[in-house]
Amino acid sequence: SGPETVSPTGRPTGAAQADMAQGGEYLTTAQGARLYDTDHSLKAGARGPVLLQDHHLREKITHFDHERIPERVVHARGAAAHGVFKGYGTAAKVTKAAFLAKDVETPVFTRFSTVLGSRGSSDTVRDTRGFATKFYTAEGTFDLVGNNIPVFFIQDAVKFPDIIHAGKPHPDREIPQAQSAHDTFWDFVTLHTEATHHTLWNMSDRGIPRSYRMMEGFGVHTFRLVNAEGATTLVKFHWKPRLGVHSLVWEEAQLVNGMDPDFHRRDLADAIEAGAYPQWELGIQTFPDTPDQTFEGIDLLDPTNIVPEELAPVRPVGLLTLNANPSNFFAETEQVAFHPGHLVPGIDITDDPLLSGRLFSYLDTQISRLGGPNFAQIPINRTHAPVNDMHRDGMHQTAVHTGVAPYRPNSLDGGCPFLAGADTGAYIEVPREVPAAKKVREAPASFSDHFSQPRLFWLSMSPVEREHIIAAYTFELGKCYEQSIKERGLKVLANIDPELCEQVAMGLGLPAPAATVSLTTPAPSPALSQLGQTWPLD
Ligand code: HEM
Repeated sequence: SGPETVSPTGRPTGAAQADMAQGGEYLTTAQGARLYDTDHSLKAGARGPVLLQDHHLREKITHFDHERIPERVVHARGAAAHGVFKGYGTAAKVTKAAFLAKDVETPVFTRFSTVLGSRGSSDTVRDTRGFATKFYTAEGTFDLVGNNIPVFFIQDAVKFPDIIHAGKPHPDREIPQAQSAHDTFWDFVTLHTEATHHTLWNMSDRGIPRSYRMMEGFGVHTFRLVNAEGATTLVKFHWKPRLGVHSLVWEEAQLVNGMDPDFHRRDLADAIEAGAYPQWELGIQTFPDTPDQTFEGIDLLDPTNIVPEELAPVRPVGLLTLNANPSNFFAETEQVAFHPGHLVPGIDITDDPLLSGRLFSYLDTQISRLGGPNFAQIPINRTHAPVNDMHRDGMHQTAVHTGVAPYRPNSLDGGCPFLAGADTGAYIEVPREVPAAKKVREAPASFSDHFSQPRLFWLSMSPVEREHIIAAYTFELGKCYEQSIKERGLKVLANIDPELCEQVAMGLGLPAPAATVSLTTPAPSPALSQLGQTWPLD
């Protein structure tokens, strides 16, 4: 079902209201007064001064002066598409989320993005890509706000402004525009070794995707599923592209960068226009919701960790098809507002400290980016479920609320007595024990292994993929002005793998340091017969 077109007051809303902005056969002012000329200012004589009383001139220029809104503080450059998500029904035993039920179709809007570049930057830079999907479900909006890399640079949201300040252009020269080949980025990631895993993925071919249509997506954090009986399961979300995962090689990325900075944006729009609709399967890795929230020794609350698919297979639960381009980039792609806290019954959060900070950050930034607290009323952000909230007024309020008592229960408006807890279809947070604990500002000891998963990634690479990684580190670290940062970069690489470190050191003309941690080989995968244990659906 699409957005409603008539509000309870009889006023047009959503699409109908958008059409109003361009209806009728005459050109008008914003107030609907017909214009006989929009090409000449009102003047005292053909060669005389322009008159301040020219309302059309002032209205037109004033509106133009305010056309730009702040770009997103991160993920500013993006491209998006509409589509549909169809549930397979295979997750019914682990979650009651209605949009995952068999054959349920849910309208969606997906925005892909780079992270560091500004709105006008290039598509094919080496960077992480955002992969954010808004599901307009019958139970309210669910946003899966993920990336094309399954791990993150930091483990605690309090470090997010720091990593972004380090990754964005240097404040003095505003260089570089859109990538990580510079001193502050490498300074940060070599001083904060929890960033090693994400950085290694960036330096691999995953950092330069061939197309948005050929990227995986990851929810990154561990979430919690809840089924109809209230039983919980921990989960990681994955998007698997039907076209497979493909990357550019570095030289291609450079050439494309110059020849078509809109390469990914164009590729997505052209494919959809040609009817070659990109598709992804949504998959889940599930883990028992044990009190320690670990799986096979991996801390599930640490967003720098993956869980290898050999240990927990990704099981498909639905299919995403992107089948329509936005008709207006600003109205849709620019104004869409995702939030990892937009959840539906059956999906809940965990205590991953990075996720906790995100739950605060998105709404906060969108209040300033989208001009106040009412951006949920912008057509692209409007839920497809009925809304009956008690939010009132504020900048850019377009709803005409009725009644006098925006509080519940009340004895004046009637009709909605609201008995707390009476609605069994409501979103209910999973009650979970919080162990009695001392208030601390510290990371758990289980967040301190920064090298064995990067090593696992490196060891899983083919020889040609390793060559690409070596070339990427050599190029990127080579762009640093500070010798000490290059040297520290090599120390980090020594803790991943001696060959990687030696090759990059050779490229930089520096000595290769020795590892300072013991290079453990990751545990062997369990026998295939054990894999089904993590999937309660079979
Ligand atoms: C935007 C993903 C961590 C703050 C985005 C977007 C994506 C994303 C995909 C773009 C949304 C769009 O297309 O409009 C992620 C992932 C993270 C992560 C996967 C870690 C696993 C964080 C953290 C913070 C943060 C820790 C802050 C504490 C923001 C902000 C925006 C943003 C402020 C801009 C939102 C807007 O203006 O609409 N993020 N992010 N992110 N992210 Fe994150």
